[in-house]
Amino acid sequence: MKVLLIGSGGREHALAWKIAQSPLLDELYAAPGNPGISDHATLVALNVEDHAAVIAFAKEKAIDFVVVGPEAPLVAGLADDLRAAGIATFGPSKAAAQLEGSKGFTKDLCARYDIPTGAYQRFKSAEPAKGYVRAQGAPIVIKADGLAAGKGVTVAMTEAEALAAIDDCFDGAFGAAGAEVVVEAFLDGEEASFFCLSDGKTALALATAQDHKRVGDGDTGPNTGGMGAYSPAPVMTSTMVERTMKEIIEPTISGMAKDGNPFSGVFFAGLMITAKGPELIEYNVRFGDPECQVLMMRLKSDLLPILYATATGTLDKVEAEWRDDAALTVVLASKGYPGAYDKNTPIAHIPEASEEAKVFHAGTALKDGGLVATGGRVLNVTALGKTVTEAQARAYALADKVEWENGFCRRDIGWQAVAREKA
Ligand code: AMP
Ligand code: GLY
Repeated sequence: MKVLLIGSGGREHALAWKIAQSPLLDELYAAPGNPGISDHATLVALNVEDHAAVIAFAKEKAIDFVVVGPEAPLVAGLADDLRAAGIATFGPSKAAAQLEGSKGFTKDLCARYDIPTGAYQRFKSAEPAKGYVRAQGAPIVIKADGLAAGKGVTVAMTEAEALAAIDDCFDGAFGAAGAEVVVEAFLDGEEASFFCLSDGKTALALATAQDHKRVGDGDTGPNTGGMGAYSPAPVMTSTMVERTMKEIIEPTISGMAKDGNPFSGVFFAGLMITAKGPELIEYNVRFGDPECQVLMMRLKSDLLPILYATATGTLDKVEAEWRDDAALTVVLASKGYPGAYDKNTPIAHIPEASEEAKVFHAGTALKDGGLVATGGRVLNVTALGKTVTEAQARAYALADKVEWENGFCRRDIGWQAVAREKA
């Protein structure tokens, strides 16, 4: 099979690494890719926003299958255009990608199909939203409706904070994404991420993960795209996974199909495990970054036929086997992230991978023959272990061998799981 992978982050490096191990693979291309991905794929300098150019390239190289990594091209309809051109594609249609692209869309779906989630209302102007907040009281959650790079959510512990967040949204802090606002009940519990494939009819549960969104140790400081993650998430017991499938995923699949937007791709469900059980916080319609890195380390099965079955409506014919081991990833970021940071700082050394540990590239580039950091989140040091404690020790041992003066990482990724293992 000839495969084209779209994307350039740590998630795509992990996908490329795993796809490259498939006996079914003849050739792997990645657009635009990164220096880590180039170990496994031929990089192509395509403008992914130019769908006609992506299709022309796929036709020229006789690509059999396209795997779309990030959400932006999905929300822009790249998967629809590729499929219309007769190319099998992993990733939902533009209409189905609304599950990530519009929080209001997802909340309405939950309401229609009785999927457990926080009570909510949607607003197009500030005054009625404020009235609702005053009536409900704090804590309460204010969300910009559209894609806001993970920054459009305010968990307001006071009414004043909630009112200010509403003003921010309607004053344009998140651009068009904030033209509509969802006000949502605060859910109390432990968070977990759940990954599940669907071909529009069948579901295949993958695995669970827990991430660390805050930049600082002890889960303090501003939110980021994710400073580390581990899998499995201890809070996701087999009972919770079963309930999630039955109460959240299955009604989503049948509801989307009924509404004329069948979902094909990966559900990345953000869950809050409350006293009542699993409740949906949000859906993403692509693998998490860096959650994908830990999932790929734990996946025993060949990834390529699983993704292909998802894209071609034959998911009932495949299974996914997982290692019992835990996996943990530590994000190395540029000093200053998630605020301003220097670009093009040199990375002098990246240690060799072993069976149990590997460094994935996220924001790197080659400049004058040397490796440099170009992004906020730059490297993902990922390791397996019999326990999260062991995976954590291995990941940090490898992270400490990376030579990059402008880099930093959190030193406590996985702390809740490590504390549980000690108890
Ligand atoms: P999101 O961008 O929707 O993932 O939201 C970012 C973070 O805000 C989530 O990971 C949760 O920690 C928090 N959050 C979102 N919605 C709620 C809610 N209804 N109750 C409590 N926390 C929430
Ligand atoms: N790590 C969170 C995300 O990929 O959205």
